[in-house]
Amino acid sequence: MTFIETRDLEKYYTFGSGLRVDALRGVNLKIEEGEFVSFMGPSGSGKSTLLNIIGCLDKPSSGRVFIEGNEVDYRNSSSLVSLRRQTIGFVFQAFNLISTMNAMENICYPMHFNRIPTSRQKQRATELLNLVGLGDRMKHLPSELSGGEQQRVAIARALANSPRLILADEPTGNLDSETGKKIASLMRKINQEHGVSFVVTTHDLEMARTADRVVKLKDGKIISEAF
Ligand SMILES: Nc1ncnc2c1ncn2[C@@H]1O[C@H](COP(=O)(O)OP(=O)(O)OP(=O)(O)O)[C@@H](O)[C@H]1O
Ligand SMILES: [Mg+2]
Repeated sequence: MTFIETRDLEKYYTFGSGLRVDALRGVNLKIEEGEFVSFMGPSGSGKSTLLNIIGCLDKPSSGRVFIEGNEVDYRNSSSLVSLRRQTIGFVFQAFNLISTMNAMENICYPMHFNRIPTSRQKQRATELLNLVGLGDRMKHLPSELSGGEQQRVAIARALANSPRLILADEPTGNLDSETGKKIASLMRKINQEHGVSFVVTTHDLEMARTADRVVKLKDGKIISEAF
C-alpha cells in the first residue's frame, strides 16, 4: 500500500531583490508502507527540503502530499501537529537531545505531549532503551554518551509514540564510518522487525546500501529511483 505520495511538488524561495531559488522542481514520488528509502544527491539538491515537507515541518509552494491516502493540509496547523506527533518520528544529524535530560527523560519527553501516563512512559522508554542496546545507560546525560549512543537515544525517542514513519536527515553525518554502519543496521532492524517505514537523507554509501531503494535528486528533481 502506498504510504506517502507527492504530486508535482515544488518549493521555491523568493528574495526582495527578485532572486528566486528553486529547491524542488516537480517531485513525484511514492513510498510504500514498510519501505526503507534513502535520498541521495549533491549538496543543495533538495533532499532536506523534500524530507521536511513530507514530515510536515515545512510547506510546499505548490503540489500535493498524501499520507495514507489523506491529503496533507499545510494550512491546518493542528492537523500538522497531530501528524507529527502520532505518525512521524524524527532523527537529526546532530542528535538534538535535550542536554539537561538523561536518556530516559529524553525518550519520555515526546510521550508527555501525547498525554501518556508517567508509569507507561517509563515502561515504554525502558523497552526502547533495551531495543537500541542502552538498557544500562538510562540515567546518563547526553554529554555522558558517545555520538553513536546519543544517536541511539534519539532513535529510541523517535519511536516513543509508535510512529509508522521515521524521517532522518543525515543520521550518520556526525559519526565515524564504523559507528555509522551500526546506526544504519539498527535502523534497518527496526524497519524489518517493527514494520516502521524509513526515509533517510544521506551522503553515506553504507547508509544508502541499507535501503530498499535509493532516490537520487539533482537540482530539485528526481533523476533516478534504483531498487
Ligand atoms: N530557508 C531557505 N531559504 C532560502 N533558500 C533555501 C532555504 N532552505 C533551503 N534553501 C535552498 O534550497 C536548496 C535545497 O536545499 P536543501 O537543504 O534541501 O539541500 P540538501 O540536498 O539537503 O543539501 P545538503 O546535502 O547540503 O544538506 C538549496 O539551494 C538551498 O540553498
Ligand atoms: Mg540537507
